[in-house]
Amino acid sequence: MNRLNIIKKQLSGNKVASSSSNIPLNVLVTGAAGNIGYALVFLIAKGTMLGNRKINLHLLDIPQAEKALKGVEMELLDGAFPLVNKIIATSDYKVAFNQIDIALLVGARPRGPGMVRADLLKANAKIFVGQGQALNKYAKKSVKVVVVGNPANTNCLIAMHYAPSIPKKNFSALTRLDQSRAKSLLASKIGNINASEIKNVIIWGNHSKTQYPDVNHAYVMSNNGRLSIRSAINNDEYLNTEFIKTVQYRGAAIIKQRGKSSAASAANAVVDHVKSWVFGSDNEIVSMAICSDNNPYNIPNGLIYSFPVIIDKDGNINIVKNLTIDKFSRNKMIATANELIDEKKQAL
Ligand code: NAD
Ligand code: LMR
Repeated sequence: MNRLNIIKKQLSGNKVASSSSNIPLNVLVTGAAGNIGYALVFLIAKGTMLGNRKINLHLLDIPQAEKALKGVEMELLDGAFPLVNKIIATSDYKVAFNQIDIALLVGARPRGPGMVRADLLKANAKIFVGQGQALNKYAKKSVKVVVVGNPANTNCLIAMHYAPSIPKKNFSALTRLDQSRAKSLLASKIGNINASEIKNVIIWGNHSKTQYPDVNHAYVMSNNGRLSIRSAINNDEYLNTEFIKTVQYRGAAIIKQRGKSSAASAANAVVDHVKSWVFGSDNEIVSMAICSDNNPYNIPNGLIYSFPVIIDKDGNINIVKNLTIDKFSRNKMIATANELIDEKKQAL
């Protein structure tokens, strides 16, 4: 061993020994050469997702995208990010999934104009069979999985099915973008407030046009304490129709505008989702699609369904119980569950 290597070994030995939180987390981003991947890896490298924690970035893409992936790796190196301990850019599942702590499964075909997300099931389902198997074989059993590639809920179900050695509670799909869209829309309707001041908006069900953005438990802080969103907006007709539809179709509206699906906002939502999961949601209700087994709202078992959850500081996800559900909400919650049951029939 030459002198430089001896010094490096001593230094890295000291780093790990000094504190367990200095041990880098292995974070996998699939589809890292794609649109979302490109935005996401820089947010992660900067520390927006995991705070001061060091990271080994595992970047996966398909062999045809290897050249572009190499370019992403080069740009990450050029960022000289203090938190990035190591970058592994590969198209080999065995290398990419090896001992990962967090799996951000983004890589999948996006929809184009005129398509619904479920149209992607045929093209993308096989990706999540292979990645479920790779999780099962190579990832840490404690891995936290976030599926972004569409149709996200059912792809997550597929991955979970093919990774039986990993607890079901470790699987999730992204509906945080829908939650943020709903909050932003409500804030602009109220006027003069920031979206972050709106709390407890819920997304129920599928990340699709049947999702149900529910404002019945949402509020904004006013001088007199909590003001319900229904009182703040004072227009139930709008909240029960146009608002819901706008959130449901926001993805399509972005595609129409950009010619490509949402990318930076999706990456931002992934960061918010993981941050809440790792550090807790600070007693705020957030939405994430998780396994529906034994849920308190009589949604059928065996789906990946978006629920209102509160996450504690140890990363335990608890579905918020005892929310009052009126008939209007119940019908919408069932409709989106039925769509997931249909997708499941096609997928498994
Ligand atoms: P993109 O086409 O720009 O990038 C996808 C990348 O995935 C490409 O680089 C492609 O080569 C790669 N890929 C394909 N198969 C792969 C595999 N087996 N392993 C690893 N990588 C693979 O697409 P994008 O805009 O980044 O979107 C990615 C997915 O995310 C799409 O399915 C899109 O619909 C979905 N999406 C979901 C949400 C959400 O809120 N859940 C939001 C936006 C987009
Ligand atoms: C979104 O919601 O923006 C993504 O799911 C992309 C899409 O196809 O709408």
